[in-house]
Amino acid sequence: MSHLIDYKNLVVTLSGKLILNIDSLSIPNHQCTLITGKNGSGKTTLFKVMSGLLKPDSASIHYQGLDMNWKQAKPYIQKDIIYLHQQPYLFDASVTYNIAYGLYRAGESKTAAHNKVMQALDWANLSHLAHRNAKQLSGGEKQRVALTRARILSPRLLLLDEPTASMDTDAKQQTSLLLQRLKEEGITIMISSHETHTVEHIADRHLHIDQGRITSLDHSHSEKVTVLNTSKYNN
Ligand SMILES: Nc1ncnc2c1ncn2[C@@H]1O[C@H](COP(=O)(O)OP(=O)(O)OP(=O)(O)O)[C@@H](O)[C@H]1O
Ligand SMILES: [Mg+2]
Repeated sequence: MSHLIDYKNLVVTLSGKLILNIDSLSIPNHQCTLITGKNGSGKTTLFKVMSGLLKPDSASIHYQGLDMNWKQAKPYIQKDIIYLHQQPYLFDASVTYNIAYGLYRAGESKTAAHNKVMQALDWANLSHLAHRNAKQLSGGEKQRVALTRARILSPRLLLLDEPTASMDTDAKQQTSLLLQRLKEEGITIMISSHETHTVEHIADRHLHIDQGRITSLDHSHSEKVTVLNTSKYNN
């Protein structure tokens, strides 16, 4: 199985407390990895490190044939890995503008951006909300706008932090449908979730994080995902 990216010896301490201590984490290409773990177990912290937003104490990264430390990898991973926040921030502007923003920043012309946004809205069944102010949308609608905004930037890996949290059944179903579509388009996805039943059918593998360590919950999974002696930190 080919891996999109491999992280090794990933250690994060925050305010003197060991948060992550992961020996090895490999993300298989074109697959969906589900990660579960109780509140405060380190899921968001992991996603921030993986996407280049938070500097770890240490990490070795193998990406696109290169072995790099986190700082060297940062420009690559910030471009190719998109982290979708638990509570996505949307601008006080139209849904269309919110989705187009990343394209403008990437230097797309107004016409090209407009065409892409129209297609993306159609893809997400959000065309009816195109001219609404994004701040006034419901939580579920906001999540879908944020998902569309992330997809339009063509990430290689999408990290979704609790994408269905606080959604009703209908919104969960709609989001789950979009996640399924993203996967069919070949985007590698990693989802953190407490509600495993909502995303279980999309996931190819299931990891669990506890006290900064990751274990695989797949019985058939031959790959050993983590193991690191944390004793030097646990005193
Ligand atoms: N800036 C910080 N300084 C100190 N501790 C922090 C900081 N950010 C996070 N933490 C701690 O790191 C731990 C992991 O937090 P994190 O947000 O990654 O957990 P999580 O698994 O995403 O939790 P949740 O399910 O509630 O979203 C928690 O104990 C948290 O209090
Ligand atoms: Mg979190």
